[in-house]
Amino acid sequence: MTQRVLTGITTTGTPHLGNYVGAIRPAIEASREPGVESFFFLADYHALIKCDEPSRIERSRLEIAATWLAAGLDTSRVTFYRQSDIVEIPELTWLLTCVASKGLMNRSHAYKAATDANAAAGEDPDAGITMGLFSYPILMAADILLFNAHRVPVGRDQVQHIEMARDVAQRFNHQFGAGRELFVLPEAEIEESVATLPGLDGRKMSKSYDNTVPLFEGGAKGLKDAIARVVTDSRLPGEPKDPDSAHLVTLHDAFADAATREAFRRDLVAGLGWGDAKQRVVDLVEAHVGPMRAHYAELMAHPERIEDVLQAGAAKARQTATPFIKELRQAVGLRTMVAVAQPHAQAATEKVALPLIKQYREADGLFYFKLTDAHNHLLLQSAGLADGREAGNWVKRLKTEGDAALAEAPVARAEGVGAEAVSAALVALVEATQAADAEKADKAANKTAKAAQA
Ligand code: TRP
Repeated sequence: MTQRVLTGITTTGTPHLGNYVGAIRPAIEASREPGVESFFFLADYHALIKCDEPSRIERSRLEIAATWLAAGLDTSRVTFYRQSDIVEIPELTWLLTCVASKGLMNRSHAYKAATDANAAAGEDPDAGITMGLFSYPILMAADILLFNAHRVPVGRDQVQHIEMARDVAQRFNHQFGAGRELFVLPEAEIEESVATLPGLDGRKMSKSYDNTVPLFEGGAKGLKDAIARVVTDSRLPGEPKDPDSAHLVTLHDAFADAATREAFRRDLVAGLGWGDAKQRVVDLVEAHVGPMRAHYAELMAHPERIEDVLQAGAAKARQTATPFIKELRQAVGLRTMVAVAQPHAQAATEKVALPLIKQYREADGLFYFKLTDAHNHLLLQSAGLADGREAGNWVKRLKTEGDAALAEAPVARAEGVGAEAVSAALVALVEATQAADAEKADKAANKTAKAAQA
């Protein structure tokens, strides 16, 4: 079975080396595996939660999209799109919001960090916290579940969100699946070796620590300047260095093959100076990133090309999303109002109390029919007719036309029965016939509607 791999990047900043090594590069590599169907997207609705500067959102979407493409993403192999182009995502978000447990959301790390900070500052716990931040994990669950992703490559800080997505999926399956697994339960996938590329100061490279090495921004010089600022210890050239405690080495290794890694360590132990060591890292990273930079610049100069790629990606994504959300709407009861044959109790009671026309043949070989009321009292008796079809015709006319057919019909009222009693019985009969016909039409319409939906 094909495995669906899905991941998104929040579009709030400029792509840095950590995004590339930790998310984009491994995702592109995974997308080349056989039997894998990949969904990569720009999480721009998530960006709105964290950022209220429209121009920054706009810029970041463009930069991150250009980065994916410049890094060699093959959009004919994968589905590459913007979250905000998929209307089914906010739609599913609401369906999931209605089953998600608030208690679970209260425990979200991101939300708790915000309330804890408020508490520490002596503020109301929810001061400045939006519903967007609170519901962040539900939007993320919708991203994942809409495409029934099996594997979700993420950083360690996102693992809790995947667990929440599983929880919500399970609840939904249980409540609305009617025994079926509507949603696949996703698994977080953490690439241990690349999950935490250190930043300039040795902490995880992250915008929020302001310790990033830009991927393309500032060109080759920007890269060199940033690497020059990587913090090292104060050992001088000629002194042996400890490769295991130097995060410059981790940065180096993210771009080096085994032999180059080995040589770097050996040379550091032998006293390679930090300045020379940094130059090696610059050369290594530049050899990798340099060729992509031109492609990136070209794309950034033609945003309309990126727009086209993303529009095509959205159309492709929606080929999966649109039929699936239809199914989910059905599951929760948001259904098209087609006439459905209801086993309504009223019809059942009417049946008991209905007058009846019976056809029969007597020993004389003639065909007869008679109308009885609900209590089986005789109301009308026909004459004997030689032609069975003629008798059948009269029955049909009485059932559909009622009184109107009575004048010409070859019938007589039974003894002591008034015209009103006959009339009332015929009215009831005509109504019952109409109801039965309508039910038949409903059934047929329902069948057609079901066929159309399938
Ligand atoms: N929350 C993720 C982050 O900030 C981005 C993201 C949004 C995501 N939706 C997703 C990642 C779905 C994986 C799957 O890193």
